Amino acid sequence: MTPTFQPGQATVYNSVQDIAQLTRALRKTARPVVLVPTMGALHAGHISLVKAAQRIPGAVVIVSIFVNPLQFAEGEDLDAYPRTLEADVEKLRAAGADAVFAPSPREMYPNGPRTVIHPGQVGTILEGKTRPTHFAGVLTVVNKLFHITNCSHAIFGEKDYQQLIVIQQMVTDLNLDVQVIGAPIVRENDGLALSSRNTYLSETERELALTLSAALTSGAYMAGQGPDAVVAAARAVIDSVPEIELDYLELAGPQLGDVDPEGANRLLVAARVGATRLIDNIGIDFGSEEVTGEPRA
Ligand code: PAF
Repeated sequence: MTPTFQPGQATVYNSVQDIAQLTRALRKTARPVVLVPTMGALHAGHISLVKAAQRIPGAVVIVSIFVNPLQFAEGEDLDAYPRTLEADVEKLRAAGADAVFAPSPREMYPNGPRTVIHPGQVGTILEGKTRPTHFAGVLTVVNKLFHITNCSHAIFGEKDYQQLIVIQQMVTDLNLDVQVIGAPIVRENDGLALSSRNTYLSETERELALTLSAALTSGAYMAGQGPDAVVAAARAVIDSVPEIELDYLELAGPQLGDVDPEGANRLLVAARVGATRLIDNIGIDFGSEEVTGEPRA
């Protein structure tokens, strides 16, 4: 049965046809349809994306919850990834989201993974080196979600900074009529960036994980001394904790190309803490004294 849409009540849709029908009708009312794509296991970071969506005047906010098998490689945590749909819908209802799209893998990929969208060069660096098929999986599902939900806008967290860039590139390169908006990272009081994967961490590992945001903060405080000093300061913090298995620590320009020695850049880190792989990043502006996106100490 087609669900009855109740604005602000996080009405749940499981079928592509039902959510597409609803959102097509909504677009005809000229209201912005704002998509917040997620894989569920919602935390305050996701809710901040919903709030960002709600700030768009007249927005109808659709949150998708789908653990996308296509973006997980063999041996990654697809099966272990937390699935908490009921609790997620409760949180979205409390936040006043309008609709939830929660399809099954069969609903999303009735023909299996057949046609896939490949990222350009940016998809091959940083995360792409360790996870070579990841961004093709992300772009494929995001492109489908854009079409299925007829969205005019979509909100993505800057926590997955490289993801945001490859999605922006897809929108430009494929002439998609969707406005992509990045929203700031949400952190715990001690600096840990919120992530659904934090639930994998033991208490000891959680303490160790703070090394990542501490390294980024140390790097950011050296912005006045130039790029090499930034990377060296961050590296020193990581090296002081031997339990952290560093994957990469890199400074890049805002589009993840060359560093702009006089402008805004991004310092990005990925590391394994025990069995859990975590990522984080911070804005570093060589053109101003200000530390952007600073983790709170
Ligand atoms: O960032 C995520 O949670 C996922 O990569 C996304 C964008 C929902 C696509 O599955």
